[in-house]
Amino acid sequence: MKILIIGSGGRESAFAYTLSKSPRLDQLFIAPGNAGTGAYGENVNIKVTDFEAIASFVLEKDITMVVVGPEEPLVKGIHDYFLNRDDIKHIPVIGPQQEGAQLEGSKDFSKQFMDRHGIPTAASRSFDAASLDEGLLYLEGQKLPIVLKADGLAAGKGVLICETLEDAKAELKAMIAEAKFGDASRVVVVEEFLKGIELSVFVLTDGNSYKVLPSAKDYKRIGEGDTGLNTGGMGSISPVPFADDIFLNKVEERIIKPTVEGLKKDGIPYKGFIFIGLMNVGGDPYVIEYNVRMGDPETESVLPRIESDLLDLLEGVAQGNLEQRSFTVSPKTAVTVMLVAGGYPGAYESSKEITNIENVKESLVFHAGTKEQDGKVVTAGGRVIAVTTLQNTLFEALQQATADAGRIYFEGKYFRRDIGFDLI
Ligand code: AMP
Ligand code: GLY
Repeated sequence: MKILIIGSGGRESAFAYTLSKSPRLDQLFIAPGNAGTGAYGENVNIKVTDFEAIASFVLEKDITMVVVGPEEPLVKGIHDYFLNRDDIKHIPVIGPQQEGAQLEGSKDFSKQFMDRHGIPTAASRSFDAASLDEGLLYLEGQKLPIVLKADGLAAGKGVLICETLEDAKAELKAMIAEAKFGDASRVVVVEEFLKGIELSVFVLTDGNSYKVLPSAKDYKRIGEGDTGLNTGGMGSISPVPFADDIFLNKVEERIIKPTVEGLKKDGIPYKGFIFIGLMNVGGDPYVIEYNVRMGDPETESVLPRIESDLLDLLEGVAQGNLEQRSFTVSPKTAVTVMLVAGGYPGAYESSKEITNIENVKESLVFHAGTKEQDGKVVTAGGRVIAVTTLQNTLFEALQQATADAGRIYFEGKYFRRDIGFDLI
């Protein structure tokens, strides 16, 4: 098979690494990729939303499958673009069409979906410019803290947790009337605050049957002890120790099955990954959000634990016979520690030379924001490199990943030394 992966982050590096081991892979391309993905395939300098250029490349190279990493091309309709062109509609795209991508692209859509199908989630109501006054009144009757969510994609920044009524009212006005998050906050979901521990569950579906992939926990805050600003994710672990069989069974019965069934009932075709962000509230799972792709850096911990051929599962999705496929998961624990640029998630500098990667021997090194410049590997983003290790115990994995994160060098490098230690 000839595969094209769309994206350039640590997630796409993990996909490239995993697919490059498949005995059925003939050729692998990554668009645009980074300074590390070239080790697994060939980088192609095409933007993830340049559908025309992607289509031309796919035709030129006779690509047999396209695997979409990030949400943006999905929400913008890359899959529909393929289906609407006679010359490429036979080429399978892993990732939902635009309608299914609304599960991530619109929080209001996803809340309505969950309500319609009885999927446990925080109670909520949506407001826009026409109902802003009603929204302000509604806030007065709610418990604090209260959660405000911009409906649309806001680069992970569109969720505000307000501790006071005053703050909640000011933010609701800023989001709706002053376009705090641009068009994304034209509609705002006001949601009950759920208290518990978060984790993520990943599902692969062909629209009919599904496979539950390993669960993972992401560490979103920049600072140790889960303090400071939110980031794209500073590290991850898989499996999640507190997600035992009893809990995961509840997740499957109450959330995964009704989600896949709900898509079918609503007539929404869906071939791809569903990333379900969950809150464990006293042993019961509630959906915080859906994403229509894999997580980053969760993918870096999840995929290395899949021992069988991932391409076999993806082919099952493409051919609509996922039910007949099976896969095996390593019982080992994966820990991923993200190395980020100094200043991230605020302003940070780029083009810093990265050295000593070769000193990492016991972990996988997944490039994220890196590029080649004058024959050197340099930083080119906030999240620079994900270091993933797979060990027999959580404790060993934590020690190894943290030690290996320390071995790589670039000016301003920062990483959290406490990823996963809260779960020991
Ligand atoms: P989201 O962009 O929906 O993932 O939200 C970002 C973060 O906000 C989540 O990872 C949670 O930590 C937090 N969050 C979102 N919704 C809620 C909620 N209803 N209750 C508590 N925390 C929430
Ligand atoms: N790590 C969170 C995300 O990928 O959205």
